[in-house]
Amino acid sequence: MPEPLDFKPWMQSICQHMEVALERALPESSTVPTILHEAMRYAVVGGGKRIRPLLCYAAGELVGAAPQMLDIPAVALELIHAYSLVHDDLPAMDNDDWRRGQPTVHRRYGEAIAVLVGDALQAQAFIVLTHHNPRGGAVSLSHERSDAAHDILDAHRQAQWVRELAWASGSLGMAGGQALDLSSVGLTLPRAQLETMHRLKTGALIEAAVRMGAHAGPTPIEPELETALGVYARAIGLAFQVVDDLLDATATASTLGKTPGKDALQAKPTYVSMLGLEASHALAQELRIEAHLALERLGHRADRLAQLADWVVERVS
Ligand code: IPE
Ligand code: IPE
Ligand code: MG
Ligand code: MG
Ligand code: MG
Repeated sequence: MPEPLDFKPWMQSICQHMEVALERALPESSTVPTILHEAMRYAVVGGGKRIRPLLCYAAGELVGAAPQMLDIPAVALELIHAYSLVHDDLPAMDNDDWRRGQPTVHRRYGEAIAVLVGDALQAQAFIVLTHHNPRGGAVSLSHERSDAAHDILDAHRQAQWVRELAWASGSLGMAGGQALDLSSVGLTLPRAQLETMHRLKTGALIEAAVRMGAHAGPTPIEPELETALGVYARAIGLAFQVVDDLLDATATASTLGKTPGKDALQAKPTYVSMLGLEASHALAQELRIEAHLALERLGHRADRLAQLADWVVERVS
């Protein structure tokens, strides 16, 4: 049963583990084309909060999934997310110079390579989800865990994960939300449309993270549990972007590792521009409570997910 005080060490150990797993999931920088592989690693390794992997592990732990199984969706989710950031920062999109405390990929490697980094990371995510080695198992993501992963991954589960991640990334998920974001510049959107945009561009991948973890258990997930986790994930998926909007308006470059104040400068419709700071804070808190309520009947096995909901919202408190 996780104690609140365990939370930080738990997070740190997953983040450390993810560094190794992500590194192993990417081709070496010395592999041709070296510039592309170097830039892919630059985009992925050594930065980011890793919230999607953390959610995937927390949901997976709840259903009793083997940790080595969870490495696979956790890495794939983070690769898709990193790709979305590289493209989001391009001049044709948000035109950002800083990401995760360093120059954006296009500032460091040029725009053409940044486009290809996104393309290749997206493909790599699906390689990770589906790769079979000659022994018939999944791709090795870490020294200590690879053998067991080979034994337990089945084709049905792989297909389910692929479908889940593809939906969350595509035109009815993240990429669709990004298209809505770009076509909304300078507009005052009705609240329902702003919510849809946020749910797609950010919520979809966060929801997929919870679902992919929840489907990694040894037995099929019970319908009531799946419903509860769906409500939880929808709430924190939206909360995450509300908090991102708030931080853009209020935080410093050094805490964010990216340029603040960009949303107002680029006339993006956000929760802050629509509701103001106070009401956006209140909404984030409401969504946190909604997430907790969804977990209420699950008992202590959902504590990690509850702690993650708090962490997502407390970033801005
Ligand atoms: C930023 O995501 C972009 C959004 C989807 C809001 P994160 O805040 O998760 O970025 P990293 O991974 O920690 O850098
Ligand atoms: C990005 O939203 C959502 C993505 C799918 C990457 P933002 O444009 O607000 O993310 P940041 O603030 O640049 O990280
Ligand atoms: Mg954007
Ligand atoms: Mg952006
Ligand atoms: Mg933002």
